[in-house]
Amino acid sequence: MTDNETHSSTSRAADWSPSELPGGRSVQRLAEYQRLREQCPVAWADDHGGYWSLTRYADVREAARKSATYASGAPIIQWPDFADQIPISLNPPEHAKYRRMLNRYVAKDAMDSLEPTLRAYAVEHLEPLLQAGEGDIVTAFCQPFPARALAALLNLPDSAYTELVEQFAGFERMGWDPDKVNAVIGQIFEAHITRVIAERRARPLDPETDLLSGVLAAEIDGRPLSDDTVLQIGVQLFVAGHATTADALATSMYRLATNPDIQVSLRQFPERIPSAVEEFLRIESPLQSIARTVTEDVELHGRTIRAGDKVDLHYGAANRDPEAFEHPTACIIDRQRNDHMAFGFGIHKCLGAPMARLEMRVALEEILARTSEIALAGPGTETAGRLRGWTNLPLRVTMR
Ligand code: HEM
Repeated sequence: MTDNETHSSTSRAADWSPSELPGGRSVQRLAEYQRLREQCPVAWADDHGGYWSLTRYADVREAARKSATYASGAPIIQWPDFADQIPISLNPPEHAKYRRMLNRYVAKDAMDSLEPTLRAYAVEHLEPLLQAGEGDIVTAFCQPFPARALAALLNLPDSAYTELVEQFAGFERMGWDPDKVNAVIGQIFEAHITRVIAERRARPLDPETDLLSGVLAAEIDGRPLSDDTVLQIGVQLFVAGHATTADALATSMYRLATNPDIQVSLRQFPERIPSAVEEFLRIESPLQSIARTVTEDVELHGRTIRAGDKVDLHYGAANRDPEAFEHPTACIIDRQRNDHMAFGFGIHKCLGAPMARLEMRVALEEILARTSEIALAGPGTETAGRLRGWTNLPLRVTMR
């Protein structure tokens, strides 16, 4: 297949078969991303009814920027592309109204207030593993910590997070199989969040600082939001904010455990941790890709993407594009220019990025300050689907 070959929308040969490839970290998959970037930057796959993939940094960025042409809300598979969730499924001009309403709850002031609570949670969840000297960091820390952080963001009772962790673990056990997850996601999250919405309606907290009370008090186009809309926002925060962050934490722990030199550097110079967080996000890209639907015919690299076609924006492949990053496969924790797209780009750029960055920084600060050595204690199990991370990662840790 060459760049100049044009496909009709009815007859296309597949350029690759993503669902037949082994996991996100495998040599074969990474080699396939490289082949697509170099030789087939607009690549067709027959999986899930057929869709295009963009893998070059410049193309993914441009598509994410052109939100009217590359519209959100119609996923390739229903999960985990956030169908029906708000704000990710919305397009301009609706999207901005909701995004404006939500931004302040993750702004710097809000994160500064949240930091001591998250730090205390991080210490509490790390301590048993540190005392034991060995264990699975994912179940001990990477899963419960972001669930508890989300509960704190939404001012849920502290007990809520254990229930959430169990629900998220259930998704992992299902291998993120879209049919199985879809069958239960409605019941569990909706039951949970519907309960909280009812509580907030009855006893609102300060709408300036409590997200759900603020959303319930807000008006869009002069009308208050329905319970269904508030539910779509609440479900979105849980679904978008947990597995992504758990995988970001797990992949960061993996990077530390497999790079003793990085541990030494960050223990000696903890002020380098924020820059290391960015590099771990770039090289791992926990949410590897997400779909758009084109609203008009698009010509790109000699190919025609027809209106209505689905296009996967491959943030993970773009973040390893040598045209955008020098030595893209090397983990360089003090990389000077690191304009990665692990949080996306354009209007849908991750709402929770400030919170995810806070969680990652606090986690790394606390584990590095308490240990003299972190090492792998055995093979882990990779996360399935579009996420790149670990569902279990045995570590051996030596306390200082
Ligand atoms: C390291 C952890 C995280 C990663 C890698 C990540 C990744 C992403 C990416 C790539 C997007 C863009 C999707 C697109 O282009 O359509 C996104 C959007 C979003 N994320 Fe995150 N995310 C993380 C953590 C969080 C957290 C903690 C929250 C909630 C507190 C959150 C909430 C959202 C929301 C609501 C959107 C949709 C934004 C919009 O459409 O305006 N994410 N995230």
